[in-house]
Amino acid sequence: MELGDDRLARRGVRLLAKRDDLISDEVPGNKWRKLKYNLTDASARGASTVLTFGGAFSNHIRATAAAGNLLGLATIGVIRGEERLPLNWSLASATARGMHLTYLDRSTYRRKDHPEVVADLRRRFGDFHLIPEGGSNPAGIRGCAEILGEVDENFDVVCCACGTGGTLAGIAAALRPGQRAIGFSALKGGRFLEQVVVDLQRATFGRPTDNWRIECDFHFGGFAKKSPELQHFIDDFAERHGILLEPVYVAKMMYGLFDLARCGAIRPDTTVLAVITGPAEGPG
Ligand SMILES: Cc1ncc(COP(=O)(O)O)c(C=O)c1O
Repeated sequence: MELGDDRLARRGVRLLAKRDDLISDEVPGNKWRKLKYNLTDASARGASTVLTFGGAFSNHIRATAAAGNLLGLATIGVIRGEERLPLNWSLASATARGMHLTYLDRSTYRRKDHPEVVADLRRRFGDFHLIPEGGSNPAGIRGCAEILGEVDENFDVVCCACGTGGTLAGIAAALRPGQRAIGFSALKGGRFLEQVVVDLQRATFGRPTDNWRIECDFHFGGFAKKSPELQHFIDDFAERHGILLEPVYVAKMMYGLFDLARCGAIRPDTTVLAVITGPAEGPG
């Protein structure tokens, strides 16, 4: 859909939005993209249990619980840090959908991909299909590569938010010649994501593509940090377009896109596609 916005029109930039936030209430946006092939892979190898990792407010944890519940798969969520009771709304939602929660202290959590940590989880929980944190493995990236297949309009540049880099890795691999992708890091110090995206593309498609870049200056102080300026942008955007931007990732991407257009880094006569990768969520 096209979003008419005079701030961009003045710069000669057209804005289209891909509303992946509307895919499903329980497994929205890039969560569904990342889980689709991970869960079909789990079923194909006959696994009845899926185990994955996340923080105490992880969208990925909630979405995995909901998808497992829908598909009849048992789910285990390995949560970073100590257990805190009562459970917050996010973890309560996961357990309400049948997820079993377990906790790793922060230093063990940092080593969660090491074979001995995984082996210990297998000793405790038996056989399971492992999905990495955020679902950013080749199966997740293949799912993200399908986003643009649902966009009929022509565009020059596609923008998306970056956390683990998986969404950008998939989207960029699906671009046509001449099109480019810009990822906006939601993390402070996101430059390391460039190598991560290269590695993810190589693991998924055999080689990286050279049609993307990452903007690292729109993190607003760091992951999940929000300034009054960003809140004002979110409120104003909701008033103009009737879309409440998810604040941790999507709003920072959208703010960055407007800023690049304002300073001419996105040139006049450019059609930009913004991928709205998830909804604004919260308790309730
Ligand atoms: C709404 C939303 N958008 C974007 C991202 C970033 O995606 P990726 O981790 O693939 O870079 C996330 C990550 O969890 C997300 O929840």
